[in-house]
Amino acid sequence: MRTVLVTGARGMLGTEVVEALTGTAEVVAADLKEFDVTDRDAVDYAVRRIAPDVIVNCAAYTDVDGAEAERELAFSVNADAAGNLARAALAAEALLVHVSTDYVFDGSKDGAYLEDDEPCPANVYGESKLAGERFIRSAGGRHLIVRTAWLYGHAGRNFVETILSLAEKEQRLRIVDDQIGAPTNARDLAVMLKELVPTGATGILNATNSGSCSWYEFGREILRAAGLESVAAEPVGTDTFPRPARRPTNSVLSLERLCSLLGWVPRHWTDAVSEYIGER
Ligand SMILES: NC(=O)c1ccc[n+]([C@@H]2O[C@H](COP(=O)([O-])OP(=O)(O)OC[C@H]3O[C@@H](n4cnc5c(N)ncnc54)[C@H](OP(=O)(O)O)[C@@H]3O)[C@@H](O)[C@H]2O)c1
Repeated sequence: MRTVLVTGARGMLGTEVVEALTGTAEVVAADLKEFDVTDRDAVDYAVRRIAPDVIVNCAAYTDVDGAEAERELAFSVNADAAGNLARAALAAEALLVHVSTDYVFDGSKDGAYLEDDEPCPANVYGESKLAGERFIRSAGGRHLIVRTAWLYGHAGRNFVETILSLAEKEQRLRIVDDQIGAPTNARDLAVMLKELVPTGATGILNATNSGSCSWYEFGREILRAAGLESVAAEPVGTDTFPRPARRPTNSVLSLERLCSLLGWVPRHWTDAVSEYIGER
């Protein structure tokens, strides 16, 4: 890895990816200010000029509920732009590492999702991310599509910050208990991406922290780690908070392929959350 182009570099994950890669390669950090990934000519020009060995695409439209009303924009950023990057990567003979999501599944599986399970998104965001995966695969270049879930990090709005800010105002929080997933620290994922590139892995790969929980259990762990046990948490059903986008009930992704490629097991989500809260 000599030169790496990171798109979406000022987002929650992109910030950590830039940080993790700095010192191991020449890192070119790009976000909307540098070029718009939906602009095919701008992408071609930037990739030709930078001539990266690897492109890590962290740029995305991530407003899951917003996507229901902004379908065109979600598809433009999550699907068309992924295709733009894939074609430019092919021309530059670069590896495209693209970040995707558990939301390509509807969550109805009993057990952890494998990479080759048939996707079936339950909302527009998931449909747009799946279309992005398909554009990348059909472009024919070298690619690694990394599906992750329940991300939180210091550079973005996320569930940990929401719980901590609610806990400042309320003594009793109602938290959804019937959706399960694997909370994933953006910094941990960035390190996984960095270590995956030299393995030569391609195709689709799941990557999250280890273990799984419901949002309610995640919330309780956040309160515990922050020393806020005095704030009560009440488990409630998804239907308590109607949202525009349907959420998968089960978002757990199998880490078998990831662990065998890395040669190590990502740390448990509770350890990663404790560290994150300790750093705030
Ligand atoms: N967050 C999660 O829980 C989660 C879960 C599973 C998978 N993922 C995936 O993980 C990846 C990273 O997510 P994240 O939470 O770090 O996202 P994020 O914080 O929303 O960052 C996305 C970045 O992309 C930029 N961007 C948006 N449109 C662009 C465009 N047209 N051209 C160039 N840059 C553009 C955004 O800029 P602006 O801020 O200026 O718009 C932002 O800096 C995404 O692929 C997402 O689908 C996220």
